[in-house]
Amino acid sequence: LSEVENNRVKSYIYTYSYHEDEQSLCCLEMRSLFGFDSKSTNLESEIEVVPSRSPFIKERIEIMIESGCFNDLLEQIGQLPAIRSTFKVIYVQNEDLANSEKVIFEERRKLERDIGLLLKGQVDLLYPKRLFGFMRVGERWVFGKLLKGESVWFKHQRKPRSYSTALSTRVARAVVNIAVSNPIGKKVIDPCCGIGTVLVEALSMGINIVGSDLNPLVLSGARENIRYFGYSAEVNRKDIRNLTGNYDVAIIDMPYNLCSVLPENVQLEMLQSARKFAGKIVVVTVEPIDSIIEEAGFNIIDRCVAKKSHFIREIIVCA
Ligand SMILES: C[S@@+](CC[C@H](N)C(=O)[O-])C[C@H]1O[C@@H](n2cnc3c(N)ncnc32)[C@H](O)[C@@H]1O
Repeated sequence: LSEVENNRVKSYIYTYSYHEDEQSLCCLEMRSLFGFDSKSTNLESEIEVVPSRSPFIKERIEIMIESGCFNDLLEQIGQLPAIRSTFKVIYVQNEDLANSEKVIFEERRKLERDIGLLLKGQVDLLYPKRLFGFMRVGERWVFGKLLKGESVWFKHQRKPRSYSTALSTRVARAVVNIAVSNPIGKKVIDPCCGIGTVLVEALSMGINIVGSDLNPLVLSGARENIRYFGYSAEVNRKDIRNLTGNYDVAIIDMPYNLCSVLPENVQLEMLQSARKFAGKIVVVTVEPIDSIIEEAGFNIIDRCVAKKSHFIREIIVCA
């Protein structure tokens, strides 16, 4: 198939699934990964992202063939060279279509069979080595290699150690993607790492990250969580106000306590320190902090809210 693929600029369709409370967070993650957001449940881009990176991406089709006419799509599929490994074809439902336009289960299975028979090679419905997907997107039909996302964040929910103010693994994963779109060559720090939720998500994406926290009691928990999932990272006891170094990005989940508020001068000192050791910061906060961010010398570049029923966090990208 590589001959066919070499002749075109690669383009991918990503399908998304999220709760309405997560839309703002998902859109900021899309803007970070792809440069724009899509309010629909799919997004097309020439940028290649592994679906498992995002907690919201369900699957990805790498487009090999497209057409405005389904029969023409079938004809082009019939002309593809033989596939050497076993394969399976999957109809990817476009959740944006009106219910009346959606294709029912039996019809989807029939279309999958039809395409499976057109392709030259061996179908294996149970343990296929490769997946192909086809989907209706707007006025077009697309067909190509299908890659399903794995819910890595879901596995990370089962950490040995937990913490009252920890982020959910889903939010933490999105925040990491918002902070670091392309991990290559990036040096990242989580200077208020708590129990290590952000660290675990970042490490699972191969990101070069270190953690630190003022509270010695959480550090052993963070180290244990990191070890439990088979990763390793430096985790130190440090007050963010005394941190030095040079990092591309800092993810700062601001300390809070439901009964008390951190004094503004302390928040300011924390962010002023971050200004010296990080080029860019992503702040997670449960209380308004814009004026302090600006006083510390940062510009607010983008933002979103992450809701969990009535509990609202803001995620603010600053440089
Ligand atoms: C909201 S929690 C972070 C939770 C973390 N993201 C997680 O999911 O486990 C904020 C953390 O900041 C730490 N902290 C408070 N003041 C700090 C300071 N001056 N320097 C470094 N860490 C600080 C607290 O000990 C707490 O662990």
